[in-house]
Amino acid sequence: MSDFQAWAVGIQNRTEASLSVLLPASSIAPQRLHEAMRYAVLGGGKRIRALLAHAAGELCGSDSAKVDAAAAAVELIHAYSLVHDDMPCMDDDDLRRGKPSCHKRYDDATALLVGDALQTLAFQVLSQPGLFIDVPRQLEIIQMLAIASGSRGMAGGQAIDLASVGQNLSQAELEHMHIHKTGALIRAAAMMGAYCAEDSDTERLHAVDTYAQSIGLAFQVVDDILDTEADTATLGKTAGKDADNNKPTYVTILGLERAKQMANELYERALQPLQVFGDDALRLRQLAQFIMQRSS
Ligand code: IPE
Ligand code: IPE
Ligand code: MG
Ligand code: MG
Ligand code: MG
Repeated sequence: MSDFQAWAVGIQNRTEASLSVLLPASSIAPQRLHEAMRYAVLGGGKRIRALLAHAAGELCGSDSAKVDAAAAAVELIHAYSLVHDDMPCMDDDDLRRGKPSCHKRYDDATALLVGDALQTLAFQVLSQPGLFIDVPRQLEIIQMLAIASGSRGMAGGQAIDLASVGQNLSQAELEHMHIHKTGALIRAAAMMGAYCAEDSDTERLHAVDTYAQSIGLAFQVVDDILDTEADTATLGKTAGKDADNNKPTYVTILGLERAKQMANELYERALQPLQVFGDDALRLRQLAQFIMQRSS
């Protein structure tokens, strides 16, 4: 196992453990809802947003206990977005993280409520009294997540995605959609990790922000590529779903080769602002590479 893999597994395990404690036990009423929430969050997922929060936190000197809370909150929002994304009224996908998607394993109404409850749990975790001595900083982090998740962020991006079915988008329009539906939460994950340092250096915050914007977009370009190139078993979600659903993607708009080139350009652009920080930015650099080379 490489040094990066060992670091990533450590964070993934910590994130899993903290999510497991934060989610109500399935023995607590309403049992079916709690069981479905645990089903949607635990035991799967690459935890890229948690890794980004920690890697950015390492560059900025953040306290890791605070980053754990930020990472858990972002992963809860992300899991909720996947539950709703898979529902019949959205992408209508039966498979997620190698298992039946939440509405398939339970039912539509439960999946809807799972999303609602995961979203509020994320803000419950972040607003915990005593988590920060610097309460205004805590509020800034809460607000970052709220904005990134809402109609000017992920939810808005999802609305654009649904309105774009069957449409011939320009590259600029597609970029706008991707920056919102996926980029916003990835950017927030990194920035929240960075903001967990109570006296953060402006230059480092700025570098994290510039990095995260490029890698957030690259992440969705790679997701579009994987949808056409990878198989269902490797992806753990239905391959070819974008084409089935008539979604405009980087692959439909640019073609596979130019989409790959575009992802590489974004990757290079993400690394640039990190250069001056040398080894302090090692994890962010390795994570960018992981995002590019992933197979699912
Ligand atoms: C999938 O995200 C949904 C997108 C935003 C493209 P991930 O690929 O990070 O999903 P998990 O968490 O690893 O399952
Ligand atoms: C999903 O984009 C973005 C969000 C869930 C916010 P996709 O619809 O491409 O994600 P996958 O491919 O189903 O994971
Ligand atoms: Mg979708
Ligand atoms: Mg989808
Ligand atoms: Mg996709």
